[in-house]
Amino acid sequence: MSDRAQLKIGDKTIDLPVLVGSEGELGIDISKLRAETGAVTLDPAFVNTASTRSAITFLDGEKGILRYRGIPIEQLAENATFVEVAYLLIYGHLPKQTELSAFSELLTRHSMLHEDMKRFFDGYPGTSHPMAILSAMVASLSSFYPAALSVKNKQEIDITIGRLISKLRTIACYSYKKSMGQPFVYPKNSLSYCANFLNMMFSIPAETYEMDEDLVKVLNQLLILHADHEQNCSTSTVRMVGSSQANLFASVAAGILALWGPLHGGANEEVLEMLQGISDDGGDVKKYVELAKKKDSGFRLMGFGHRVYKNYDPRAKIIKRAADKVTKKMKEPDPLLEIAYRLEEAALTDSYFVDRKLYPNVDFYSGIIYRAMGIPTNMFTVMFAIGRLPGWIAHWKEMVDDPTTKIMRPRQIYTGPTEQPFVPLAKRG
Ligand code: CMC
Repeated sequence: MSDRAQLKIGDKTIDLPVLVGSEGELGIDISKLRAETGAVTLDPAFVNTASTRSAITFLDGEKGILRYRGIPIEQLAENATFVEVAYLLIYGHLPKQTELSAFSELLTRHSMLHEDMKRFFDGYPGTSHPMAILSAMVASLSSFYPAALSVKNKQEIDITIGRLISKLRTIACYSYKKSMGQPFVYPKNSLSYCANFLNMMFSIPAETYEMDEDLVKVLNQLLILHADHEQNCSTSTVRMVGSSQANLFASVAAGILALWGPLHGGANEEVLEMLQGISDDGGDVKKYVELAKKKDSGFRLMGFGHRVYKNYDPRAKIIKRAADKVTKKMKEPDPLLEIAYRLEEAALTDSYFVDRKLYPNVDFYSGIIYRAMGIPTNMFTVMFAIGRLPGWIAHWKEMVDDPTTKIMRPRQIYTGPTEQPFVPLAKRG
């Protein structure tokens, strides 16, 4: 394979360098294209565009491979804790015992919110979507930690990372408690990251909360599976905002808002609503498969398809097994799980879905697990955000630490009117 590509524009031919990633992917470096030819490239939705070089996550959508810092997702989901994975993504290697202890201590020390922040929750109506609260609270954190405002203040970055990972979980639980009209439960230093989350969500002062270790394990696994997915919409948003040297809190608040959309993290909420709708309508999954195939119906099978995976999403395989385990623990089996299995089978044997390589994605079964845990549907995307946070931070840090980083500023192909004169109001026909 040549290390140059040639591009002919009019009678001019230019040589472009070809880059090869560590897993053999090819990229054509067009960074000098406009300077040398005056032309730009047009790639709607960045389907063919690598926005950066990155050493964090590798995914091969055709083969269904996902690795964080080279380690297969299956091995991490089976053996690691979410805190270890966060460290791995952000600092580039699995922590040694001393590093893990120091990082866990950092998270433990910074889990509480400033008492003044608690009052912010009172300003939101009970109907607020928790993603709106989450993003606003994360942006607000920057007003409590002004030393974090300058990204040049390298001393402050590690502590800001610890604060953010620890407090996002506390904010999420407080927004749930607020919506339930229950008192906030403070974090407990003796509990692990995931156990602390469940305790802050579900314990109440009036009784003892029995921690279910199986749920702690499944939550740990779900958060690991969501922890990074290279240059997806929210991560690219974090990088885009961070490229202006906006601080970590501001950049992540923007990422949370990007995640909210139903085509991205909001899909897990939509999956549950779809399954409930199918159930309420008599459970005929074939009818909904047919509907999803009709372009003018405006209906898509939520939790199916992926921009990158053209094979079974490796995360969905693990989540499907976990969903099975968790729902078996419930007193009554969840009828929506049964609908999900039937819907998956109907779609995977239908040529529309087979031809387009549309498989269940990470969101298809995660909602069923969250529901079994007692987490309300409108908090599902918040759970995704807690999981994705280490990935956002890792990408932000990779970008900030790279001395060649520039502010992101795409070009466009202008299609509006050419120059025309201003017409005074009285003369406009
Ligand atoms: N149901 C029915 N048809 C679909 C679906 C679906 N879920 N997804 C894609 N298609 C069809 C689409 O209509 C198109 O058909 P045609 O070639 O005839 O025009 C073809 O498949 C390719 O789809 P696309 O929209 O061009 O693909 P994309 O890469 O732009 O979109 C996607 C990817 C995830 C936005 C899309 O598959 C989708 O809308 N899925 C449902 C929402 C969802 O589950 N999102 C979660 C994604 S995973 C978690 C995350 O990353 O946040």
